[in-house]
Amino acid sequence: MLDLFADEMPWSEPLAPGAVILRRQAREQSAVLFATIAQVAAISPFRQMVTPGGYTMSVAMTNCGPYGWSTDRHGYCYAAVDPLTGKPWPAMPDCFRTLAQAAASHAGYPAFDPDACLINRYQPGAKLSLHQDKDEARLDAPIVSVSLGLPATFQFGGLKRTDPLQRVWLEHGDIVVWGGESRLFYHAILPLKAGSHPQVGPWRYNLTFRRATE
Ligand code: SIN
Ligand code: FE2
Repeated sequence: MLDLFADEMPWSEPLAPGAVILRRQAREQSAVLFATIAQVAAISPFRQMVTPGGYTMSVAMTNCGPYGWSTDRHGYCYAAVDPLTGKPWPAMPDCFRTLAQAAASHAGYPAFDPDACLINRYQPGAKLSLHQDKDEARLDAPIVSVSLGLPATFQFGGLKRTDPLQRVWLEHGDIVVWGGESRLFYHAILPLKAGSHPQVGPWRYNLTFRRATE
């Protein structure tokens, strides 16, 4: 497929205090990133987790790195072992770590050392309700969020659930970094619109890198 924007240079857009969007930053490496996601999922498969409230999430998730995030009827937690396989989460691939650190540096967080990468897979209709990322031990470290595949609408609010929400259209290769003043800002993903991405078909993937432990 002809991609008129294949040679487009990445650029950045401020989002909020401490938060920035690095447009198209991950695009050049996306084929490697997709292959690497498949390798991780071959060890720790995507699964739809159940929240403490008993709701089955529409987004399918897996993790890589020393710690992985999961939820079940008992609560949310980071753990070294995948509850589905009973084995450690797959190691964080070098290409993931390098990408996350470069993005964090670019956004003004040069010392980012992620120990967890949550991988989300959205099918059409899948969404992520408004929430804060607050299960991490180190809130001085930013969140680095890489969007791949189909585009989606990201909502970014403030410290209160009722704060006004900005709407951001996130496309393949875009990276959002939030930390500092906006580290605990509420955010969400609206239901994914159906479509087909030339590299992966009917999916959106998102990698979120965090520092989960001290
Ligand atoms: C997240 O909030 O952890 C993921 C957001 C996204 O899928 O872009
Ligand atoms: Fe989040």
